[in-house]
Amino acid sequence: MIGIFDSGIGGLTVAREIRKKIPSADILYFGDVARMPYGNKSPETVTEYSREIVRYLIGRGAETIVIACNTASAVATSKLRREFSVPIFDVIAPAVKVALQPTTCNLQPDQKIAVLGTRATVGSGAYQKALAAASKKIKVTALACPIFVPLVEEGYAGTAEGAEIVKHTLRPLVSRKPETIILGCTHYPLLKKEIRAVFPKARLVDSSAVADEVLKKYREKGERRGKTGRIEIVVTDLTPHFLRFARKIIGSAAKIKKIGVERLNK
Ligand code: DGL
Repeated sequence: MIGIFDSGIGGLTVAREIRKKIPSADILYFGDVARMPYGNKSPETVTEYSREIVRYLIGRGAETIVIACNTASAVATSKLRREFSVPIFDVIAPAVKVALQPTTCNLQPDQKIAVLGTRATVGSGAYQKALAAASKKIKVTALACPIFVPLVEEGYAGTAEGAEIVKHTLRPLVSRKPETIILGCTHYPLLKKEIRAVFPKARLVDSSAVADEVLKKYREKGERRGKTGRIEIVVTDLTPHFLRFARKIIGSAAKIKKIGVERLNK
């Protein structure tokens, strides 16, 4: 079983991608809705929340963990890998790998890459370090966009007001003319249209890139074919908003269950 977690709803887009690529896998998705957002919390708090969730997922039978949350990936991955023996995938390394793949419109080794993320993700320097380790020639600009998560949560994606706020937030990047933009947050793919309006020529890379890495691992292990995997969603708070989003992204196949945060430590 693959255990996937995020601070809330956004990671469901990663779960959907993994389900599409590995339909036979059983998936247990954990959304820490009661304690979101993670993006403006300290690394210590996000690491502690992540640790509790990974322990819960392993206790429920997860043999592989996917940290679908960029903030948790940025601040907690190395600690979690030291503490738990199951394979743990983060969303940062796969996105960086895709961003560095040359495309026809993007062949320069000194390309300009922009990273958008929460305050915690950008502050951790995780994307910047991973990109710098891969090539010294790349020019990286990272921009925290803390307004983007509430914008999506409050339904402003796809509205003129939302587009205006996205444009205003991205203004510091305009003169840098990035060729590739990493959407380093679960919510930002939902603002793709608005981001593309500001940077029509840039390639946008998001967290779903991790699905290919998980698929590779499954193939090595010998993927079971022929059966459709189960998907279960566990949340620390079940809001109508989450329910609507989950149905939209995953459909009605998923069983959704709420557990109290206190249950994580039992
Ligand atoms: N899931 C978080 C991330 O990808 C965004 C939402 C939050 O701040 O909790 O960074």
